[in-house]
Amino acid sequence: MMKRLLITGAAGGLGTMARKRLSHLAETLRLSDIVPMGEAAPNEEHVVCDLADGAAVEELVKGCDGIIHLGGVSVEKSYDLIEAGNIRGVYNLYEAARLHGLPRIVFASSNHTIGFYPQSQRLTADMPTRPDGWYGISKVYGEAVAHMYHEKFGQETAILRIGSCFEKPVDRRMMATWLSYDDFVSLMERVFTVPKLGCATIWGASANTCGWWDNSHIGWLGWKPKDDSEVYRAEVEALPPRPADAPDVLYQGGKFTADPVFRD
Ligand code: NAI
Repeated sequence: MMKRLLITGAAGGLGTMARKRLSHLAETLRLSDIVPMGEAAPNEEHVVCDLADGAAVEELVKGCDGIIHLGGVSVEKSYDLIEAGNIRGVYNLYEAARLHGLPRIVFASSNHTIGFYPQSQRLTADMPTRPDGWYGISKVYGEAVAHMYHEKFGQETAILRIGSCFEKPVDRRMMATWLSYDDFVSLMERVFTVPKLGCATIWGASANTCGWWDNSHIGWLGWKPKDDSEVYRAEVEALPPRPADAPDVLYQGGKFTADPVFRD
């Protein structure tokens, strides 16, 4: 059991779930976000700070033996917003980790690093990225930061390319990309107990029969996702049909591929 596990983005969708479901991993959960996170439970410390604030992030990381980095901009936005949360924010986080004992990091990357691959293609983690916007580019950057800090300083990171981590799949694309909360939790348990993690890229999807991503390279991690989106097939197939040329039908990144470049 860790002494202190930091979860960034703790006020967000995944952070709120992680806060409830991962308290067994550490004596203390240090939760952080740019907005308040509600009432602190007895085992929680709350720190409100902006990931773009280097001094604050250094203080935030001090004393933590693990980090689940969920904080930042999580959809396509203007470059300036993405730069603050995801570019400078990741720099600040890795620098703080380097200065404070290299705590193991889970970096919440995204399927939008490979969003322009067609849904007809099965992917391995070593294939070139094909980001579908500035958000996806910021996640490619985060992955590169993780690799550089691993090669240069021995920093360990689980680069988790999350598909769609929600209670259940709610459209056809999510039948392939769904990561159940239970499978997310079992993955975090493995990441923080496996003796050697290195800097592994992990496809964050459940054992979906119609999935696109090949996780066979991480057998050593001992993670066995149990859920399969097929149990929701009837619900999803009851939705109105989508045009054959819609981005959510053609591309792995779905509608993000059709987003404009947003300007503030
Ligand atoms: P979310 O948008 O609900 O949560 C992100 C949190 O980060 C928010 O609470 C927000 O206030 C905080 N944040 C934003 N900018 C910040 C800043 N400059 N400083 C400090 N905090 C800041 O996103 P969600 O869905 O919980 O995702 C968590 C992470 O997982 C994100 O990094 C996202 O990119 C990634 N991800 C999630 C997927 C999903 O299916 N939920 C899919 C792919 C990636």
